[in-house]
Amino acid sequence: MGLCLKLSAVVGISAALFALYMSGPTFSVESLKGARILVTGASTGIGEQIAYHLAKTGAQIVITARRGNVLEQVVEKCLALGAQKAMYIPADMSVASDPEKVVRFAVEQLGGLDYLILNHIGPSPFAFWDGDVEHTRWLMQVNFLSYVQMAWKAIPTLEGSKGSIIVVSSMLGRMCSPFVGPYSATKFALNGFFGTMQHELAMKKSNVTVSICTLGLIDTDSAMEKVRGYTNMTAYPASDAALQIIKAGVTRQSEIFYPWFTYYLLNVKDWFPYLSDTVIRGFYSYEAQT
Ligand SMILES: NC(=O)c1ccc[n+]([C@@H]2O[C@H](COP(=O)([O-])OP(=O)(O)OC[C@H]3O[C@@H](n4cnc5c(N)ncnc54)[C@H](OP(=O)(O)O)[C@@H]3O)[C@@H](O)[C@H]2O)c1
Ligand SMILES: *[C@@H]1O[C@H](CO)[C@@H](O)[C@H](O)[C@H]1NC(C)=O
Ligand SMILES: *[C@@H]1O[C@H](CO)[C@@H](O)[C@H](O)[C@H]1NC(C)=O
Repeated sequence: MGLCLKLSAVVGISAALFALYMSGPTFSVESLKGARILVTGASTGIGEQIAYHLAKTGAQIVITARRGNVLEQVVEKCLALGAQKAMYIPADMSVASDPEKVVRFAVEQLGGLDYLILNHIGPSPFAFWDGDVEHTRWLMQVNFLSYVQMAWKAIPTLEGSKGSIIVVSSMLGRMCSPFVGPYSATKFALNGFFGTMQHELAMKKSNVTVSICTLGLIDTDSAMEKVRGYTNMTAYPASDAALQIIKAGVTRQSEIFYPWFTYYLLNVKDWFPYLSDTVIRGFYSYEAQT
């Protein structure tokens, strides 16, 4: 083989590998056409954006949150965008029986389930911990236990359809920050629980995969309302975050990070614990809280 040929082969292969590395797993929107999907916390924010992306691919969706009147409007928009089916069920995830009721409704209405997208969160103050244990208990049910209940209820159906569970988590489920004690606790709980579930499903050679999505600050109304005045951190668009969440499930990745640098921040902070604690506290203005 001539030198030129060898060199061009090396260059060609390197370029191909680089392109593969840069592109990540390929994401085909087509694969979602007709897919049966349940999205929680879809009346607003990232969940609403997830519903719209799915609608455009021609999926069949059930959405849930507490406010039926708002869900109804999201459903109408989903149908206009091209959803094969779009339905809603109002539910309050702090009520112990609602998580399972929602899964049952979706499976019945859609005749099965391909994706379960767990995204809802209950409102929680952005403030110094004030000793409100009842709020923490309530938030644990809404943000964590209801996810466990829904996942467990959906797994038998997802086994049959080779389906996926997508869990929307946060950087605050992997690192600690001031003013978010109860919220952060629920996200750490999610990461711990669903990380275990990933191992167990793989060991059982289950058909079901779990994707955990770690998000940084996203520009939803509820998040912006909280951090306004306290920090100047850049918030990333909810519609982009929603697309990355869907992509994580379709490509069956165990973890994704959005925006991309959150992955590096989370890993590098452990190498410099003192520095990173100082930087984290420096993000927030103490005066704004007192
Ligand atoms: N935005 C960010 O900066 C950010 C950063 C990292 C991670 N995340 C994660 O991304 C996900 C979505 O966040 P987001 O900012 O889009 O939230 P959001 O705008 O506050 O939306 C929360 C959703 O949950 C529903 N919900 C609230 N309480 C509920 C309850 N008791 N029962 C059932 N549904 C309830 C809300 O609808 P109703 O009021 O109608 O019930 C709404 O649809 C969350 O898992 C969050 O932790 C967000
Ligand atoms: C996984 O899916 C296959 C069909 O694709 C099915 O035969 C098998 O029973 C499923 N596994 C479980 C645990 O349900
Ligand atoms: C955000 O930036 C503005 C203008 O640069 C500054 O006055 C303010 O103190 C900053 N706020 C915080 C919380 O860092």
